[in-house]
Amino acid sequence: MRTLQDINELRATLRNYRLKGQRIALVPTMGNLHAGHLALIATARQHADVVVSSLFVNPMQFGPGEDLDAYPRTFEADQRQLTEAGCDLLFAPTVSALYPNGLAAQTCVHVPEVGEGLCGGSRPGHFDGVSTVVSMLFNLVQPDVACFGEKDYQQLAVIRKLVADLHMPIEIIGVPIVRADDGLALSSRNGYLSEQERAIAPTLYRTLCELRDALAQGESAEQVLQRGKTALYDAGFTPDYLELRDATLKPVAVSTRHAVLLAAAKLGPARLIDNLSVQLPSAATD
Ligand code: PAF
Repeated sequence: MRTLQDINELRATLRNYRLKGQRIALVPTMGNLHAGHLALIATARQHADVVVSSLFVNPMQFGPGEDLDAYPRTFEADQRQLTEAGCDLLFAPTVSALYPNGLAAQTCVHVPEVGEGLCGGSRPGHFDGVSTVVSMLFNLVQPDVACFGEKDYQQLAVIRKLVADLHMPIEIIGVPIVRADDGLALSSRNGYLSEQERAIAPTLYRTLCELRDALAQGESAEQVLQRGKTALYDAGFTPDYLELRDATLKPVAVSTRHAVLLAAAKLGPARLIDNLSVQLPSAATD
């Protein structure tokens, strides 16, 4: 695997692949890779001749007081894992390469509606940062296909809308959540948890499973969500949100059958997110 930092070198290298008619896949990451990222690479491999990954801890998507400085940087281990996973090219630019004029002067991509509420509500500006850096990466790499994890359900929806609204010819593929044996969704932020917090953390997934089953049996969403919040508080979480939306993140309507439960909750120093799809029966939408 080649690692490139320089934008011009990246473009020149990709031009060669493209001239040979090779299909290019992109897997954007912020590093500190785990099995969830490796599933993205494996999916990318199935859809392209050349797999490009990017590693960039994007300052624009972190709010004041968030974990930009603490975010784990494990470059050598990431390079090793990507090589073993069959990634062909790693693009790892510096902050000044992507934002030469600083963040304040940066042109920004804002995706309305789907980026509002949920994580967009509790992390103002977060999705502007994600949309801006992902647009840049799409522009630099010009992939045919790009893979993103379904754990960041709202992020995936934002990116799908971004690509559709800006007419980018890129196929976006969502890759299912990879979980630890006890159900906890893999995340770089799980590393912030103490041993005791790590033992509590799977309660988030277990709670979502219980709520999904109750909703599928026709219990009212309001009642179920209230019970879920109480269960999370009781376990030691501070929930940011626990919501039921339709699969496109619009409010659930009477006709909705495919819905998604979405949660974000703080546990010690970590803010964990998770989601689970739900099949609603006809009377469970009030
Ligand atoms: O999901 C992530 O790791 C990041 O939000 C992404 C898509 C790499 C943009 O910085």
